[in-house]
Amino acid sequence: MDSIIITGNGPLSGRIPISGAKNTCLKLMTAALLADEPLTLTNVPRLSDITTLRALLESLGCEVALLREGRVMVLSARQITSHRADYQIVRKLRASFNVLGPLLARTGEAIVSLPGGCAIGARRVDLHLMALERLGATITLEQGYVHARAAHGLSGAMIEFPLVSVGATENALMAATLAKGTTVIRNAAREPDTVDLAKCLGAMGAQIEGAGSAEITVHGVARLHGTTHEVIPDRIELGTFMIAPAIAGGEVELMGGKRALLEAFCQHLEEAGVEIAETHNSLRVRRRGNRVRAVDVTTAPFPGFPTDLQAQFMALMCTAEGTSVMEETIFENRFMHAPELIRMGARIDVRGGTATVTGVPRLTGAPVMATDLRASVSLIMAGLAAEGETCVARVYHLDRGYEQIEQKLLAVGARIERVKGGVAGTSRFPR
Ligand code: EPZ
Repeated sequence: MDSIIITGNGPLSGRIPISGAKNTCLKLMTAALLADEPLTLTNVPRLSDITTLRALLESLGCEVALLREGRVMVLSARQITSHRADYQIVRKLRASFNVLGPLLARTGEAIVSLPGGCAIGARRVDLHLMALERLGATITLEQGYVHARAAHGLSGAMIEFPLVSVGATENALMAATLAKGTTVIRNAAREPDTVDLAKCLGAMGAQIEGAGSAEITVHGVARLHGTTHEVIPDRIELGTFMIAPAIAGGEVELMGGKRALLEAFCQHLEEAGVEIAETHNSLRVRRRGNRVRAVDVTTAPFPGFPTDLQAQFMALMCTAEGTSVMEETIFENRFMHAPELIRMGARIDVRGGTATVTGVPRLTGAPVMATDLRASVSLIMAGLAAEGETCVARVYHLDRGYEQIEQKLLAVGARIERVKGGVAGTSRFPR
């Protein structure tokens, strides 16, 4: 397993290109199952999650071709040759569960492994299943697999989610595009990912109104056709890299960044003393003064503060002036970065879903362990500002969601290197 070593190296300066959005791209790929014509995606990020989902789609009979060094993906689901999404893939990539809606809508049958939990929480799928049953599917659970059937097709319905679920909204939205009649999805996710998926589905011939609001209406059609669609910039990668100059100092320009993708996050950064200037195709970010101020945070569904940026913001609050109270309301176990940050000298008190962070002037480098995708990148951010060397082990978590992170940070002056096969506790980092 690779490790990444970062040495605190003072203020950053330069430009970072923001890649296509991982989570959006994954759902767009599943949408290809809805049509018997090619769906071409551009601005595709080169990430292991994308590769994993590609393998699953190919196992279902979807042909997936990569062009332009993997930036363009052509998905052709003319023939669906299998209805079964295997546990070995779904357990590695939860987004695979989003093949359920499209597969069921297109063929009348889908057998998809329950994804199981992950490091940050139980990750239930009851809302996905509720929505598909509302659309007329018969669902049984057999040996860890969801068997969904709709021999006579799906029928439009009213779906009311008791809580906002991005994945369940997207499964329901995709299934409803081919249902007979009209579907109304209430308490729908409003994330930019979901809006971009709706935009792509519309270009494929779906009739969707209200994407981006809490109520989405879908008028079912007989079939969808192919299209070409550009994946939006990754707002979580964007927010992550906005933390870099905020924690290490200097000024960084994030190419492709748009403030509208993460307004609440930007407001919290500005309250902490970070300046954000928007140009026609970038965000310029720099910290005012030598240290940010502590700011309280409560995560929430879009347009609130994104849960996927909580760990990165916590790293920043570890070096802030004052005390920040951070509430994680979306997932039940999303503070696993806290013990690792404490190893770097942070002062964090976690009680249930609330973390109280008392800022210290300087963190110190240490060997730390990545536990999940966003926790691992928060440790990289902390390492940028820490005294000495930080070695982050198990960085395969990082490679799932951040394309060429070392190269992007090296380009703005960070001291960062990947140690192939490096394991914390080697002679360099006794543990
Ligand atoms: C998506 O996960 C993202 N993943 C997550 O990003 C993100 O954190 C999350 O949305 C929230 O924004 C992808 O898009 C691939 P949810 P998803 O359904 O769809 C509960 C990252 O780091 N729930 O919105 O799985 C659930 O347990 C990842 O990139 C149910 O109870 O999230 C959670 O508490 C992490 N029943 C809450 O809803 C259900 O059927 C929100 O989950 C579904 C969800």
